[in-house]
Parts: sequence; structure tokens; C-alpha cells
Amino acid sequence: MKFFVDSADVAAIRELNDLGMVDGVTTNPSLILKSGRDIVEVTKEICDMVSGPVSAEVVATEAKAMIAEGLKLAKIAPNIAVKVPLTWDGLSACKALAGEGHRVNVTLCFSAAQAILAAKAGASFISPFIGRIDDNHYDGIELIEDIRIIYDNYDFKTEILAASIRSVNHIIDCARIGADVVTAPPAVIKAMASHVLTDRGLELFLKDWAKTGQKIV
Ligand code: E4P
Repeated sequence: MKFFVDSADVAAIRELNDLGMVDGVTTNPSLILKSGRDIVEVTKEICDMVSGPVSAEVVATEAKAMIAEGLKLAKIAPNIAVKVPLTWDGLSACKALAGEGHRVNVTLCFSAAQAILAAKAGASFISPFIGRIDDNHYDGIELIEDIRIIYDNYDFKTEILAASIRSVNHIIDCARIGADVVTAPPAVIKAMASHVLTDRGLELFLKDWAKTGQKIV
């Protein structure tokens, strides 16, 4: 399973990248806003740091303008994946950009039907938004399961990039189902290392060690 970091915070991405945890990065307009940085500048900095795909999202809503924005974003670095929304125009832009050899991440996917269309349009990645589905009292993980079955039935090459990850359990569920990639905020990836029994066990070992009066170095 590949880990993408869902962030435009360069310092947070670097911390995980230095540990070898980062196979790619996803950004979106809200994350760019949060970074307070210029989209081209911050995306370039991320692309220079990370060797895997870095998704940068178009903001136009009409296919021709999406393609123009996508081509501009793709010029930032060779590892850019152009992110387009799952609308009819987005699918059209996906087809055109993929046809020119660009990686396309089709985002804002909320149904298996949408995921089929993205695969047919040549998307490299489909991004189903698990957390936002759960927020609306549907089952985001069930959608990942459905897409996995459908893509496998027809040998679609589009990678399932599980997005809108809110918890460690989301990541475990996605891994169990066989999502190709999860993109998660840095805090959720770091939370994967935490376990209350690890903390308790370490505390006990350190207490006992102190009683031995020994030193290792
Ligand atoms: C995906 O690529 C999106 O950037 C992201 O996962 C959305 O997550 P959110 O629903 O927590 O905003």
C-alpha cells in the first residue's frame, strides 16, 4: 500500500518523507489556502522533495479551461498529477490530459458509477472521499470495497486513492480491502505509531531500568 500525504505543509511532509513514509502527496485548493503559499511555489517545493506523484488541482469548471490549467500545473515538475473534479467537464479534461501523457487524479468521487467513468476516461487515480461520505451517514469504506471489486472485474488500471481519511481505522480498513493508495493528513499517519499499551509498557520498562542503576552508554 502506498502512502500519500494530504497536505501542502512543506515541513510536515518533510518530516514524514525523511522517514521514508511518503510515496506521494495530494493537495487541493483548501490545503493551498491553509498553507498560505503561492500554489506554484509550494507545489514546486513539494515536487522537488518527493519523488512520487504530487497532485495539484485545477479550479476551472469548464473542460477547455481545466485543460489549460492542467497543462500549466503539469509544467511545474515531471511528477505532477493533475487533479480534476468528477464532473462531466472534469472527465473530458481527464481524457485530454491523459491522452497527452499526463497523470490525472480524478477527485471528489462519491459513487462507484463515478469511479467507472474515471477509469474509462484514463485516470491514473480515482479519489473516493471516505470521511465526507461517513459525515453524511453513508459508508465510505463500502464504496472503496465496491470500486475494488469493479476495477478488478475489468482489470481497470486506475489506482484507488482513498481520500478524506479521518482515522487510523480508515487506513487499516483501506489496507484490508486493497486500496492502492491512501492519502492522509500528517497527524493521522503519525497517529498510526501510537498505542496505549506501547506507552504503558515503555513506562514500566523505564521504571524498572532506573532501579537497576545501570547505563548502556
Ligand atoms: C483528497 O485528495 C483531498 O485532498 C482530501 O483527502 C480531502 O479530505 P477532507 O475531506 O478531510 O477535506
